[in-house]
Amino acid sequence: HTRVLTGITTTGTPHLGNYVGAIRPAIVASRDPNVDAFYFMADYHALIKSDDPARIEASRLQIAATWLAGGLDPNHATFYRQSDIPEIPELTWLLTCVSSKGMLNRAHAYKAAVDKNVESGEDADAGITAGLYMYPVLMAADILAFNANKVPVGRDQIQHIEMARDIAQRFNHIYGREFFVLPEVQIEEQVATLPGLDGRKMSKSYDNTIPLFEGGAKRLRETVMRIVTDSRLPGEPKETDDSALFTIFKAFATPVETAAFAEALKGGLGWGEAKQVLFERVEADVAPMRERYDALMARPDDMEDILLAGAAKARAIAAPLVATLRDAVGLRSAK
Ligand code: TYM
Repeated sequence: HTRVLTGITTTGTPHLGNYVGAIRPAIVASRDPNVDAFYFMADYHALIKSDDPARIEASRLQIAATWLAGGLDPNHATFYRQSDIPEIPELTWLLTCVSSKGMLNRAHAYKAAVDKNVESGEDADAGITAGLYMYPVLMAADILAFNANKVPVGRDQIQHIEMARDIAQRFNHIYGREFFVLPEVQIEEQVATLPGLDGRKMSKSYDNTIPLFEGGAKRLRETVMRIVTDSRLPGEPKETDDSALFTIFKAFATPVETAAFAEALKGGLGWGEAKQVLFERVEADVAPMRERYDALMARPDDMEDILLAGAAKARAIAAPLVATLRDAVGLRSAK
């Protein structure tokens, strides 16, 4: 069996990028009878980005409902909240002690924060928490606690998976056994980076996202209408290569639909009409899921039960592994 694992940080409302980049391929993978799927809400990671408890709680509910509405079967997959697994922070410490500081210095998110400080003439580490610095080690613990083989993510997470491999390798080397399998990144090439409204990567931090469910069809349509396009008028042939609108369409459509849409754009379809076509294509996929999402959001206690059951399943796997590791490094014996 292949273990597939992925998580989503609970700081925002799920958007189309999370869905096509991570959630949709992960749900498809979870239906393979040869796959053991581990999907979770990364709420410890959320604390690195937000100190607003209400936001973290709201986001956690929305993300949990999104996975379930998208068709994840929690009886088949192991579906849980990171913070319900105490073995994860415990493993984080064991991994911290073999992680090289130089490697963490090179992490994109940390480097970007330092560069921003330096550019604005501040002290390099001004306002940067140790949490941000340690982000990749916590993420390595998420993956290694379950010895996941495959980690489906968007392109922005590749470096983190490479670091998890690096940390796993060091640990195995230092303690002289293959405690950890080396996880591999799994990228859906078509949608590795879904663009947002302004053509940059769709991201909470760029404020350019298209929400998947929140706000209903009305909000989806309004947001799609705000996608930035070039100034070509109706009747003029449109360029599809660098078009965020076209790329988003492609992520939801069959190859035949995509080819037809490209034809129409080259043939002079106006951007306004094109946006309506895009909205309808996305809405066709989203509408049935949104109905399930709204029903789930109305019953948060049911989701809580599902998450607690998932945590029990997850701990049954992580706890024996961490006990072995404690033994291996010379802490309390596993027996
Ligand atoms: P997060 O919460 O930023 O994003 C969740 C997932 O969505 C993908 N994604 C995108 N994919 C395509 N196009 C986009 N515009 C786009 N925006 C986001 C992300 O690549 C990600 O797969 N550190 C992770 C959460 C995490 C995790 C883990 C993932 C914590 N522990 C262990 C895998 C394994 C994060 O912040 O993702």
